[in-house]
Amino acid sequence: MGRKVMGDFGGIIHGGDYNPDQWLDRPEILAEDLQLMKKANVNCVSLGIFAWSHLEPEEGNYDFEWLEEIIQRLYEHGIYTILATPTGAMPQWLTNKYEEVLQVNEYGVRNYPGKRHNYCPSSPVMREKTRQLDMRLSERFGGHPGVIGWHISNEIGGNGGDGACHCAYCQNAFREWLKERYGSLDRLNAAWWTGFWSHTYTDWSQIRSASARGEDLVHGQKLDWKRFVDSRQLDFCKEEIKAVRSHSTLPVTTNMMEFFYTFDYFQWAKTLDIISWDSYPDWHSGTDELRTAATTAAAHSLMRSLKKQSFLLMESTPSVVNWRSINRLKRPGMHELSSLQAVACGSDSVQYFQWRKSRGSSEKYHGAVVDHRGGEDTRVFREVTRLGERLGKIATRVIGTINRPRIAMIFDWENWWALDDAYAVDNNLDYREVFVDFFYPLWALGIDVDMVDMEGALDAYSVVIAPLNYMYKKGYADKVRAFVRQGGCYITTCWSGEVDETDLTYTGAHPLEDVLGIRTEEIDAPGGYCENSVRYQGVDYRITGLCGLVHALGAKVLAEYQNDFYKGYPALTRNVYGNGEAYYIASLNEQSFLKAFYSEVLRERGLGCGLAVRLTEGVTVNERNSTSEEQDTAEKIWFLQNFNREPATVELLECYENVETGERLSGEIKLQAFECVVLGRADGRNEF
Ligand code: GLA
Ligand code: ZN
Repeated sequence: MGRKVMGDFGGIIHGGDYNPDQWLDRPEILAEDLQLMKKANVNCVSLGIFAWSHLEPEEGNYDFEWLEEIIQRLYEHGIYTILATPTGAMPQWLTNKYEEVLQVNEYGVRNYPGKRHNYCPSSPVMREKTRQLDMRLSERFGGHPGVIGWHISNEIGGNGGDGACHCAYCQNAFREWLKERYGSLDRLNAAWWTGFWSHTYTDWSQIRSASARGEDLVHGQKLDWKRFVDSRQLDFCKEEIKAVRSHSTLPVTTNMMEFFYTFDYFQWAKTLDIISWDSYPDWHSGTDELRTAATTAAAHSLMRSLKKQSFLLMESTPSVVNWRSINRLKRPGMHELSSLQAVACGSDSVQYFQWRKSRGSSEKYHGAVVDHRGGEDTRVFREVTRLGERLGKIATRVIGTINRPRIAMIFDWENWWALDDAYAVDNNLDYREVFVDFFYPLWALGIDVDMVDMEGALDAYSVVIAPLNYMYKKGYADKVRAFVRQGGCYITTCWSGEVDETDLTYTGAHPLEDVLGIRTEEIDAPGGYCENSVRYQGVDYRITGLCGLVHALGAKVLAEYQNDFYKGYPALTRNVYGNGEAYYIASLNEQSFLKAFYSEVLRERGLGCGLAVRLTEGVTVNERNSTSEEQDTAEKIWFLQNFNREPATVELLECYENVETGERLSGEIKLQAFECVVLGRADGRNEF
């Protein structure tokens, strides 16, 4: 059973960012930290994340003694370390002596020293200083038995920036990147359609980054600039990985930020051993928790899908953040529920930012496990401790399992970038929000979903859903065609298959016209207020967004528009193709439409929630299964989660076992507000 989560670590990781470098002159605090960590069932910390000025106080003068002492002491207490490279923030000596390490913004202005996540990824000095430090860290700590993995930098590209640097080094690197991609200026001009407005390039040196100060309306250029910014930062990260690997074979991660616009995390995943991410949902802010819960589940699922393996919840707050305009405390129960939600969706850890609250600077009021007062007598500390106990109890049942959905949704960063700049009928269209709209009803039904980018394989799935799949990458249409021909069910929407990967529109038919069995024509944007509706199975559903005007060729029309000049046009079609079928949803409609439509598709495909349960609204399920297909029936566990602010009752249609208490459960069971129950089979097949 089981596999290692990171390095030699085999359980569920519980811990988080520990910044002892802020407290080196307070030995009594460091001593208390150790005691309290043991009490809180902490078994792992992330160290050194912003410690550059302590690790290299002066240029070339390294001081690792303090870190070694702390790693060793933690290890002696059974607490492991994920060791960071400290490039998330730069020391004063570096930024003041070598200004090239600082980013230049799109107006050509170089930043002053300060803040974080703001280095130029092309600066030779930055690369060299980083390499020197990372290699030394690797040499000194790569073999320490307490160190189980590398945490590269911190939230690369984050902190409100877009990861872009417009300095001369980066401009040159962009040109080189373009030469590699296009080979000739003719090809580049054709791909970017530069003849429009007479902007044809006649020399490589004329090309600059996309910026508000200069060119930001040539879509192909803008898209390539986004690709370049992404690949430049990834390239820097790869250099760091190379350096930490110089003396170490430990696994490598970097903490991601869910649907982070700037980076195509599917590309990043290829160079990382483990995916980890930082989750800070805005709990308790709206009228209900459900949209927040579904959005968070979508983000966890995306992280799991990047490598199709369990991931780490590298950061979360045990209580409150301090960077929204209003920051609500997690209500009692929510800490356990939101942490177990991560595990339910595939995380093998629950980690926090941060262990102990700082005394000064911008995060002194950010939630932490240990408060300014110190000690263990706080609500937050008790909740963290209790969660740690629960993770300990379920660990052997969790490690070595993963969610294995039969449904995938296409989520693709390049599609997002292109769609965002489409400059068409609805310039407020929010890909991520629409994506969550399509995810939500499945989440509510307790059905796990994987996310796949346009390059990913589809064969493991029965149903593939591709909302707003505006851009088709090379080979994508053929892959979908093969998937449907072989019996798959493909569901897509309007505003799909519009442009190719250079952001040029297709000419002629829609690339999947044969599969979809429709001819696409115009598209309408009804805006916030829309009187139109679609009628599906005798029920009228309100339209909330785009309306595609299409004509059925071979497809069967399942729903029609009810108003406007396109009354009677198809709003939902189904086309049989090969052994499978393809649906086209022409308009974006209210949620209840998708619920009704999905139910029909799921019924036909024999798909549903793996737990035999009658759910009520706000209660959902995730299933973790053995990682190997053959053991399909063996090691399943289910996380039944109540996101309602009140108790809720669900009905278990078979007998299950509460994994933590051993209690047998069947029939009606009551879940408290924000309660999560972990269930296994009651027939003994879960024995290890
Ligand atoms: C991010 C960072 C942390 C901290 C938290 C606060 O996740 O990685 O260093 O700033 O935000 O929420
Ligand atoms: Zn630069």
